[in-house]
Amino acid sequence: MSTLDINFVRDQFPAFSEPSLQGQAFFENAGGSYTCKPVLDRLTRYYTQRKVQPYGPYDASRLAGEEMDEARARMAAILGVDTDELSFGPSTTQNTYVLAQAFRQWMKPGDAIVVTNQDHEANSGPWRRLAEDGIEIREWQIDPETGSLNPQDLENMLDEKVRLVCFPHCSNVIGEINPVTEITSIAHAAGAFVCVDGVSYAPHGFPNVGHMGPDIYLFSAYKTYGPHQGCMVIRRALGELLPNQAHFFNGDVLYKRFTPAGPDHAQIAASAGMADYVDLLCDHHNGPEGDATQRGAFVHDLMRGQEVALLQPVLDAVKDRNAVRLIGTSDAARRAPTVALALNRNAEAVAAELVSHGIMAGGGDFYAVRPLTAMGVDLDQGVLRVSFTHYTSQQEIDQLLNALDAVL
Ligand SMILES: Cc1ncc(COP(=O)(O)O)c(C=O)c1O
Repeated sequence: MSTLDINFVRDQFPAFSEPSLQGQAFFENAGGSYTCKPVLDRLTRYYTQRKVQPYGPYDASRLAGEEMDEARARMAAILGVDTDELSFGPSTTQNTYVLAQAFRQWMKPGDAIVVTNQDHEANSGPWRRLAEDGIEIREWQIDPETGSLNPQDLENMLDEKVRLVCFPHCSNVIGEINPVTEITSIAHAAGAFVCVDGVSYAPHGFPNVGHMGPDIYLFSAYKTYGPHQGCMVIRRALGELLPNQAHFFNGDVLYKRFTPAGPDHAQIAASAGMADYVDLLCDHHNGPEGDATQRGAFVHDLMRGQEVALLQPVLDAVKDRNAVRLIGTSDAARRAPTVALALNRNAEAVAAELVSHGIMAGGGDFYAVRPLTAMGVDLDQGVLRVSFTHYTSQQEIDQLLNALDAVL
C-alpha cells in the first residue's frame, strides 16, 4: 500500500500556510476540518462569477447549475450510489429531523425503531421523539466499560415490528468503528431499514455506501474538507416509499424529496471540490484510473493507513495514565483518530491550558450526552477530545504528546 505524501497533502490546505495559525496544531478536527483548496477555489469562483439563480438559460446561471449537478454526480459516484440518491441539506441534524418527520408519517402506532446510546444526539433525539406518536423506541445499548455495541444484542432486539435501525458508523467520542455491513445485513434480514450516521467516519475516507448496504447514510461536508453542508444518501427503494417532505411539485425528484429548505447553491457547487481533492490524492499517489468508487477506496485506505500509524502512539501514551480514562478501544486499527479522555478535572479548563502549548482542542460533551452518561462520565467535567485526520503531521503529534505530558 502507498504511503501518504504528507507535504503534498498539506499543500492542498491553505490553513497550513496561514500566518495567524502558525505554531498551532489543530486537534479539533472532529468538530470540523480545515477546508481543502479545490473547495475554496470553487466557492470563490461561484460567489464571484456565478452568484445568480442557477439552471437558467444565460451562461453564469447554466454553469452554476452544472456545477451543482457535478457535485452530486461525482460525490455519489465515490460513495457507490446513483446520482439522485445523494442530496445536500443544511446539516446532518437537520437532515435527520426531516427524515424523522417522513418516518413519523409513514409508520403506524405499535411499529418500532431501534436507536443506540452510542450516537451523537443528531441520530438519536429526532427518532426518539416519534414515541409521542405511539412508535415504540428500543435502545441498543453499549457496554458501559468499553463503549462498544454488540451486533448480537441487536439481533436479540429485532422482530417484525421494527421498521428502522439507527446507529453510528463511529461515535464522535468512543471512536470505535462499527461493522456497518454486518449490522445492516442483520437489520435487513429482520425486514428493517437502516440509517447510519457516518459523520465521524467519513472524514477518514469516504466509504462505499452502496457496497455496505444501508438505506440511509449521513455525513457533514464541513468535516470532510468541504463547505458547511449535510450530505445524505437515501437509497431509492426507501426514498420512494417515504412521504415527500418537499414542495408537492418536487416530490417526483428523489434528491429533492427530503430537503425542503432552498438549497445553498454555492456550497453545493463547491462540494465538487471534495471530489477534486480525492482525485488529486489518487493521481499523486499513482492510484487506479477510471472508476470513482475504486479511486475513493484507494484514497480511503491511504488516509486510514496514515492515521492508524500516527494514532497508536497517542493511544499508548494515554491509556495507562493514572487520572486519565481513555474512552473506547486502545487499538488504533479499530477506531477513528478521535480520542476522548475523561480526566479527574474539568476538561474545558484542560483544553484552555493546552492553548499555551500550541494545541487547539476542546472539552465538553460534544452532544454525545447519552454515550458519555452510559459510560459513567461526569458531564460537569466532560471529556477532553483530541481528534486529527490524515493531514496531521508527525511533528504535530509530537507537539500534542509533549503538551499532554505537561498538562495531564
Ligand atoms: C457523529 C456526529 N453526528 C452528527 C453530528 C451533527 O452534524 P451537523 O453539525 O452537520 O448537524 C455531529 C457533529 O458534530 C457528529 O459528530
